[in-house]
Amino acid sequence: MKLTAEQIQANWEIFLDNIKVHIPGNRGEQLTNFYKRYEERIILMPAAHKKEYHSAFPGGYVDHVNRVVRCALKQYELWKEEGCDITTFTIEELIFSAINHDLGKMGDKDHDAYIPQTDQWRKDKLGEDYMFNKKLAFCSIPDRGLFLLQQHDISYTFNEMIAIQTHDGLYDAANEKYLKTFMPEQKPRTSLPYILHQADMMAARIEFEIEWLPKFSQDSVDKPKNNYTLKTKTSSKSKALNTLSSPGLKNMLDNL
Ligand SMILES: [Fe+2]
Repeated sequence: MKLTAEQIQANWEIFLDNIKVHIPGNRGEQLTNFYKRYEERIILMPAAHKKEYHSAFPGGYVDHVNRVVRCALKQYELWKEEGCDITTFTIEELIFSAINHDLGKMGDKDHDAYIPQTDQWRKDKLGEDYMFNKKLAFCSIPDRGLFLLQQHDISYTFNEMIAIQTHDGLYDAANEKYLKTFMPEQKPRTSLPYILHQADMMAARIEFEIEWLPKFSQDSVDKPKNNYTLKTKTSSKSKALNTLSSPGLKNMLDNL
């Protein structure tokens, strides 16, 4: 799948608008400043390093997060309609968690987590357009995201911490301590983690359907395409992405 420079730019504006609308006061300003500070890195980030995973293309990260925010609001309505106790969390907590649930994919303040693949064999044979940046010490995505938030003095509530921590649900065995307990007093006191997990799963599944199901048709099998090329006019690409200073991202964009 590919996004045009205009789509990437429009997604970024929606991303910032979600903060403006849902995260009020000083925390909203701090979060906006944080994302503007790292804008040129985040705007082009893929959501994964391997193209078989969801949204592993330039701009895929923001596209995914915006979809999770939309799905979270819809899941909220569904849970509310079915009698979920929505007094145990706030919409602000839901949207803050959705916006930041995958933030750890960014890397740390100095290094991108995903950089352009340099091994042509892995690129051709394994579909890895990106690779993990070995300059980064290992850290789980939720842990790194929470660390980044506190490192930039952005506070989060207990509910938000647990929701971000467990957003992968039981796909991540590390979450068993929160989600696989049979003791009532140890179960989460709010449905927020379940709502966020369902929104994330829904978004990732739909991204799979958008990107991969068409490729399984006979036409697509007969005529494989390189779906990772940003086919845009140079002028519009420059317009949308003219502030890039990261050599890695510039190189990646030039080569895709
Ligand atoms: Fe996600």
